[in-house]
Amino acid sequence: MSLNLILNAINASKEDGKIKISLGNIGNHYCELKVADEGIGMKADELEHAFEPFYTTRAEGTGLGLAIVKSIVDSHRGRVSLTSEAGRGTLAKVNIPLLSKGDDI
Ligand SMILES: Nc1ncnc2c1ncn2[C@@H]1O[C@H](COP(=O)(O)OP(=O)(O)OP(=O)(O)O)[C@@H](O)[C@H]1O
Ligand SMILES: [Mg+2]
Repeated sequence: MSLNLILNAINASKEDGKIKISLGNIGNHYCELKVADEGIGMKADELEHAFEPFYTTRAEGTGLGLAIVKSIVDSHRGRVSLTSEAGRGTLAKVNIPLLSKGDDI
């Protein structure tokens, strides 16, 4: 799941592009993964379709990476979001609720 986001960041970046990855907790209830790149970014209409299966702008892409991320995150009752600006870069954020004692797994 995180690998799909990291590969997207790499694909969007130039060879010397910086990618920042962070993982932490927000309070006691959520963990948060962030993958930020300074690559090509996305236009509004690309952002709108990014999570759709088979949507891709890459010649060798399947367009399944983000659809898979979304279905995994959904199955953990989490949230995934993309913030992006064309030419500036993209931030992918995943929030997943932490398990508490007594939760069904
Ligand atoms: N970090 C990013 N920067 C710019 N565009 C992105 C980024 N992540 C996703 N996208 C856009 O969203 C589209 C869909 O992403 P997704 O991961 O689902 O498929 P893909 O990367 O094209 O193919 P695959 O994941 O199968 O290799 C990409 O083709 C690209 O247009
Ligand atoms: Mg991908």
